[in-house]
Amino acid sequence: MLALGIETSCDETAAALVDGEGLILAERILSQLDEHRPFGGVVPEVAARAHLEHLDRLIGQTMQAAGKEFADLDLVAATCGPGLIGGVFVGAMTGKAIALAASKPFIAVNHLEGHALSARLGTDLPFPYLLLLASGGHCQLLAVDGVGQYRKLGGTIDDAAGEAFDKTAKLLDLGYPGGPAVERAALSGDPSSFAFPRPMKGRPGCDFSFSGLKTAVRLAAEQAPELTMRVRADIAVSFQQAVAEVMADRAEHAIRLMPQARHLVVAGGVAANQAIKARLLALAEKHGLTFMAPPLKLCTDNAAMIAWAGIERFRLGQRDSLDFAPRPRWPLESMSSQVPPFGSVN
Ligand code: KG4
Ligand code: ZN
Repeated sequence: MLALGIETSCDETAAALVDGEGLILAERILSQLDEHRPFGGVVPEVAARAHLEHLDRLIGQTMQAAGKEFADLDLVAATCGPGLIGGVFVGAMTGKAIALAASKPFIAVNHLEGHALSARLGTDLPFPYLLLLASGGHCQLLAVDGVGQYRKLGGTIDDAAGEAFDKTAKLLDLGYPGGPAVERAALSGDPSSFAFPRPMKGRPGCDFSFSGLKTAVRLAAEQAPELTMRVRADIAVSFQQAVAEVMADRAEHAIRLMPQARHLVVAGGVAANQAIKARLLALAEKHGLTFMAPPLKLCTDNAAMIAWAGIERFRLGQRDSLDFAPRPRWPLESMSSQVPPFGSVN
């Protein structure tokens, strides 16, 4: 089994070749950090142009590095949403063109499904598991019952967690991308220096909210007599602690809603954060669950997870038409009707 995966939904242009065992034969990933840095965030039009400029070459390099031809592929999988639609178009059309030219099956992958299944890439993680997906665009708790079987237990009612990190970094002038910058600054801060709110903590259900926390960070930054490195580090660590605490609280509620879960999995760029991971690990241990965070390069946007999601779907006999229209919005739960129920596959 050999799958070519293509990812272009945000600011990473990526291609990967993955086999049926979950081995990544070759991959290329190009971050557009330099293109977006002057704007302090991802600019959709700039992203789409960059994908267009680099994708063909990255795919060519990936094939060459693995010594493979398009004829060797069993399937082509491309992210077809959700995401910044200009970029999604570039990846989807390129994937379709390769599938058409080489007469290979095409799988239109939901980017969130890529994240959701990434923990199974090269592991023997069984279904069902509880997934906390926290990235720049998404923050949700999902019961993953099987391939295509996703139940949303909670989600953010305003900002995504990664967005909150990015905005905090911007407010504190820590640089871009925000998450790693805040985490770095937090290392030298005192977590008890600012008493930031813990939005939604203790509330029923599993929803998140980060806008109040963001406002608190803004006020703290504005009210500080001087935004020294020390103050920034204190704000960063106090903010990070608040996010970690809220995430653990929401995940604990989700564990109660999904008593059959034996595994807690985190995915998405925010899963790179050590403080958040430590908190979730402690939570999993408390409830007798195993804790799993895919390796960093699989947590952030990448094409290997897209190839893998393609393989998982392909194995269930699924194929998509070349007419499949890329989607800016594509909730994961909407896919559940497309596959056999949990129990018939694993
Ligand atoms: O999954 P991802 O690469 O892209 C999508 O949004 O789909 O996630 C990127 C997000 C950004 O908001 C970034 O600031 C955040 O993940 N992030 C982090 C860390 N590394 C990346 N947030 C907190 N701590 C980090 N170390
Ligand atoms: Zn993502």
